[in-house]
Amino acid sequence: MTTVFVFNGPNLNLLGVRKPEVYGRTVLPDVEALCREAATGHGLSLDFRQTNHEGVLVDWIHEAGAAVKRGDALGAVLNAAAYTHTSVALHDAIEGAELPTIEVHISNVHGRETFRHHSYVSPVAAGIVVGFGVDGYPLAIDGLVRKTRPLRSV
Ligand code: DQA
Repeated sequence: MTTVFVFNGPNLNLLGVRKPEVYGRTVLPDVEALCREAATGHGLSLDFRQTNHEGVLVDWIHEAGAAVKRGDALGAVLNAAAYTHTSVALHDAIEGAELPTIEVHISNVHGRETFRHHSYVSPVAAGIVVGFGVDGYPLAIDGLVRKTRPLRSV
């Protein structure tokens, strides 16, 4: 079965507890359940992960890119959290691994502090889902499927 990866960056293990007025009260295992439902609906298996470490995300991106090249995976949904705004390493990893990536943010980062307005991930993302709360994750999986298995040519 083809895999879809969902990678979560720093502090997202605190989802549901950290700033619920911004990120909501849904916890990460419930986000995983939402993603599993979306993946299963597309006949995909889900590989859902979270780390607080930038280099681990780089390693996972390389691993996912290799899986896509083997035909074992479709791509990845990535909420790089704060590393979005700081990490050239993530930008280079996505580009270098040629990993089809949908960038996700739970909150509308463009309505928040200016340091959240810039993303190193966006220029190398296939698509971006921002500000839909945790519903952005299944939306991103749908978007990745449409990008990589288009219903129609555009
Ligand atoms: C976030 C937005 C980032 O600015 C922030 O650092 C996060 C979460 C989001 O999902 O809204 O940790 O990526």
